[in-house]
Amino acid sequence: MNRPSDKVCIVTFGCQMNKLDSDLLRGELARAGFSCAERPEEADVVLYNTCSVRDHAEHRVLSHLGAYRRRAESEPDFVLGVIGCMAQRMADQLLARFPFVDVVCGTRAFLRVPAYIRRAQQGGGPIVDVGEESPGGRFEFDRAARMRQEDHSAYVSVMRGCDNFCAYCIVPFVRGRESSRPPQEVVREVRRLADDGVREVTLLGQNVNSYGGGLEPPVGLADLLERVNGVDGIERVRFVTSHPRDMTDGILRAMAGLEKVCEHLHVPAQSGSDVVLGRMRRDYTAAQYRDMVARARELVPGLMLAGDFIVGFPGETERDFRLTLRLLREVRYQQSFIFKYSPRPGTAAARWEDDVPDRIKRERNQALLVAQEEVDTERRAGMVGRRVEVLVDGLSKADERHLSGRTRGNDIVVFDPPQGARPENLTGRLVTVELTDSTPLTLFGRLSGRG
Ligand code: SAH
Ligand code: SF4
Ligand code: F3S
Repeated sequence: MNRPSDKVCIVTFGCQMNKLDSDLLRGELARAGFSCAERPEEADVVLYNTCSVRDHAEHRVLSHLGAYRRRAESEPDFVLGVIGCMAQRMADQLLARFPFVDVVCGTRAFLRVPAYIRRAQQGGGPIVDVGEESPGGRFEFDRAARMRQEDHSAYVSVMRGCDNFCAYCIVPFVRGRESSRPPQEVVREVRRLADDGVREVTLLGQNVNSYGGGLEPPVGLADLLERVNGVDGIERVRFVTSHPRDMTDGILRAMAGLEKVCEHLHVPAQSGSDVVLGRMRRDYTAAQYRDMVARARELVPGLMLAGDFIVGFPGETERDFRLTLRLLREVRYQQSFIFKYSPRPGTAAARWEDDVPDRIKRERNQALLVAQEEVDTERRAGMVGRRVEVLVDGLSKADERHLSGRTRGNDIVVFDPPQGARPENLTGRLVTVELTDSTPLTLFGRLSGRG
């Protein structure tokens, strides 16, 4: 039996790495005798796993935290924690502004969170830990028995940290230096996940193409993909995020040749202007990026590309922006994530004036979104009539009479379940779907075979 003060809710902001960290931490908390609550109102302990990548991401968390003042003051046993990237970046500021926060714990001290909660419950707060990993090493937390939110698809951390120091980016500051997890350990985890019913794994790293740096014997992402491809029970393998500079023929050939590795790359360009790319410290020109895309498409038939763009970087002119727009149209991304530049304290770019007015940033943001939608609508309309392999995710959220799944290229497909079958039984299975229609967000199809 859990004591009433043992229900924890983790509210997660940020990237896939944060989602994985929250799942790992739930596992650790369960081991320490805590149980999970779905919603903060039902919990005795609320943890915010936070993101610092843009000012907006931080603001959302700050406004949530402010709302806990009354509860924290009226319920002495209640524990409020802030963990992850924001905790790492601004521990002292957080406590100064919200003195009722009990635990502030950075990105490398997650394993210590359960003990801190206990200490806080006994009145020992506030506790701040923005230190390094425990003596067990960088990847000890990754070995935690995670509590998964999804059954058939899982993230696997293969690297932690980032050494790139792109001029705008806070990640290297909050996540620390880059290091790679030994391949045998990654494979062991993937095997365990497969035994547990997982069919699709996504290997995570901030710059996954540089996987292997510092490992002995030498190993690269292509070798890792080959080993993970060999795990029985796994049907699909993905990896994110790729840095354009570190794309190699070896990685592309692995993608083309290994049957489980999906033909999908998330390979952000950030800008189409060489002047801006230079100031961003991205280490490639727009021409080199285009060559990389051409090579990738040559080696990997059917390849889908996703990208990120930042608009309104310091000094970005109308001409720079036009070059970005042209690149987005030319590459014909399946998906683009578009962000307005947000200065991050301590980064190189924060020393430069944030001189593109917000109105212009919004206009440029909107123009890229519109262009992306045009490109994508056309691309998807061209897919109607094809037969595609779909991994079934479950009932469609929009309409529970239908099933929803994803293609190897990560397009969402909605289709009817087979007559007489219980649709939920198809979750996690590979099926063949003939595409019959496309709308701006979704492809529709009819089942034409089971995998
Ligand atoms: N490691 C990954 C993800 C980095 S953060 C990568 O390198 O691709 C995800 C995206 O947020 C980045 O690709 C970038 O487009 C955007 N981003 C990062 N810092 C930003 C900032 N200061 N302002 C606006 N967008 C930013
Ligand atoms: Fe940030 Fe650049 Fe590292 Fe990506 S590669 S996390 S954008 S510093
Ligand atoms: Fe991810 Fe945001 Fe941290 S993007 S690494 S949660 S700053």
